[in-house]
Amino acid sequence: MTAESAAPALSPRTIAVVAGRPAGAGDPLNHPLVLASNFRAGGDYTRTHGTTTWQALEEAVGALEGGRALAYASGMAAASAIVYALAPKVVVIPTYSYMGVRNLLAEYRAQGHLELRPVDITDTAAVVAASDGADVVWMETPTNPTLDVADLATIGRACADLGAKMVVDSTFATPLLQQPLGDGAAIVLHSGTKFIGGHSDLLIGLCVTSDDAVFDRLVLARTYQGATPGSLEAFLALRGLRTMPIRLEASQKNAEVLIERLRAHPAISEVRYPGSGAMVAFVVAGGAAAADALCERVRILVPATSLGGVESTIERRQKYAGDSHVDPGLLRMSVGIEDVEDLWNDLAQALA
Ligand SMILES: Cc1ncc(COP(=O)(O)O)c(C=O)c1O
Repeated sequence: MTAESAAPALSPRTIAVVAGRPAGAGDPLNHPLVLASNFRAGGDYTRTHGTTTWQALEEAVGALEGGRALAYASGMAAASAIVYALAPKVVVIPTYSYMGVRNLLAEYRAQGHLELRPVDITDTAAVVAASDGADVVWMETPTNPTLDVADLATIGRACADLGAKMVVDSTFATPLLQQPLGDGAAIVLHSGTKFIGGHSDLLIGLCVTSDDAVFDRLVLARTYQGATPGSLEAFLALRGLRTMPIRLEASQKNAEVLIERLRAHPAISEVRYPGSGAMVAFVVAGGAAAADALCERVRILVPATSLGGVESTIERRQKYAGDSHVDPGLLRMSVGIEDVEDLWNDLAQALA
């Protein structure tokens, strides 16, 4: 046994800090921001070969997920790359999940490229039944915005038996709360715009796989579709990722306190929480009008559509056509790292 193989496995908290750094004597601690499309001799070009700025982020996300990562211009660019890379004919999708990805796949169906099989991802038997004859089983767990959870271990085993590729949008879980490659996922998808970046200042997407053939297809997708990440965005996403473990711990602690108080509040009829993470959904008993009024009254929480940042955001989702199935009074809240008493006081006054 070599000294290296005898070393204990590193904690994700440590990986987030040490992965993707230059290692040579005299090197800077951070890979510099490479602002170049072109490289002297050798034929390297950024869209086809990447840069060390991208690769540093990819190394860190890959290390956390247990695979090899590729960065894209956004989460949607990463989702589009997956469709291009796998070119599926039959896709199992969640009936309810992030509307952008569902709309993308519906567009492919409308153009006659593929067939969709929508399923309730919490009904594992239904997912497994639908997976028979499918090329791709596209899971998102927990889902946006209702925080449904899929049994990835069982669905992953079924996909292996049936010869389907499981894709998992793990944006809400982050690479810290679940590692779907261990459940047999062919590709893990992240909108790095959210918790990985963590500061609501960039758009980026990531795909992670441990299948070399799939990796090569994902490289081709980025090369031909051209949805490359920006250099500054990749740099900032890695800077954000360094503190993701402590941000997520702080957000989750806040979420747990808020959930308990929301559950006890007479104006709230339902609280949804998948058991870990920073995303909470709750239903205001007074319906759409009461939920909208709450969003207008908050002073510390920000009424905003994105999530996963240091700041708490809140939004009523049923107002979007793509989320018209959601309870009209449902608010999706991304819990930040502010002082929890300030957050509660803000929610309580807005609910009063
Ligand atoms: C679960 C999920 N997947 C993918 C995306 C798309 O990511 P992006 O906005 O970075 O394109 C989002 C965006 O909200 C999301 O919530």
